[in-house]
Amino acid sequence: MKALILVGGYGTRLRPLTLSTPKPLVDFCNKPILLHQVEALVKKAGVNHVILAVSYMSEMLEKEMKEQELRLGIRISLSHELEPLGTAGPLALARELLTENSDPFFVLNSDIICDFPFAAMAKFHQHHGQEGTIVVTKVEEPSKYGVVVSDADTGRIHRFVEKPQVFVSNKINAGMYIFSPSVLQRIQLQPTSIEKEIFPVMAKEGQLYAMELPGFWMDIGQPKDFLTGMCLFLQSLRQTQPERLYSGPGIVGNVLVDPSAKIGQNCSIGPNVSLGPGVVVEDGVCIKRCTVLRGAHIRSHSWLDSCIVGWSSRVGQWVRMENVTVLGEDVIVGDELYLNGASVLPHKSIGESVPEPRIIM
Ligand code: GTP
Repeated sequence: MKALILVGGYGTRLRPLTLSTPKPLVDFCNKPILLHQVEALVKKAGVNHVILAVSYMSEMLEKEMKEQELRLGIRISLSHELEPLGTAGPLALARELLTENSDPFFVLNSDIICDFPFAAMAKFHQHHGQEGTIVVTKVEEPSKYGVVVSDADTGRIHRFVEKPQVFVSNKINAGMYIFSPSVLQRIQLQPTSIEKEIFPVMAKEGQLYAMELPGFWMDIGQPKDFLTGMCLFLQSLRQTQPERLYSGPGIVGNVLVDPSAKIGQNCSIGPNVSLGPGVVVEDGVCIKRCTVLRGAHIRSHSWLDSCIVGWSSRVGQWVRMENVTVLGEDVIVGDELYLNGASVLPHKSIGESVPEPRIIM
């Protein structure tokens, strides 16, 4: 089977991380977001050809995916857009690759994280026999989203309602689809939204079905949700692969630590922390609900809560950072500073506290 992954967005909401790395390559729980998906496609559905629909920063993606192609023993093709084609146009561009055989194919947004039920999707799609299946997940406040109204027994989708003011459904599009190749006849080679322009027509014609997602789901395309997604992912690891979590003196709850990371004496790490390769955490540091990316260094007695520390950044001694503070790549934070909800652009040195949430350019 084949899968097309939409990786062409600018990822503006995940800035400043996406100013130096395309969103699909940002490490989520110590693995590029995209690799979580590709590995699950291979393992759970036997996918042997992944097509990446790219436009922005494609060189970095190309280099990384060449390595993964060899490691995973699959074919990875890049489909380059000269202009952003939205969420449906890229399917038309990759038409030849997608129709090399008549099998249905997966289509994914690149910034979602869940248990990836790819085998169940393929089975459900085959069972209803129509053109498309979209995976839906339940949310607590449907009025903030576009919801999917579908038949409780069969899953057949009747319609989509944008930000409903009265309750019609609490299911939203989870950004994972499986289509039969005939869907390509509906899509022109031009910027097109699959959600707004293609799905409503398919639903009207009875060609679109919803499969409900069991378990956790998160769109990790912005820092706040990235951290929530990390907590959910670590919780699911606790249930399914507890051996991947780290334990030891000063470790609290679900914590992921790369084997090359170093943790000093008298630290408190966790709950919900991921420390990437080469990370150094000096003595007496307290970190909870944070992602610390490759090569970052946290000096002694600092206190971090709900932060993302970018690649190779350096945080001084006795620093306090909280409230979704995000450091881009190679940021330096001076000693004894307080950062509250700061968003710091790459390669910046900070010498003063940031007491209110703001962007530091
Ligand atoms: P923001 O700028 O933060 O909204 O992120 P984004 O650009 O990734 O947009 P969004 O999260 O809405 O996109 C959903 C998915 O579609 C992501 O996987 C994007 O990479 C992808 N995507 C969005 N626009 C395009 C496009 O024009 N071309 C391709 N190939 N993918 C796209």
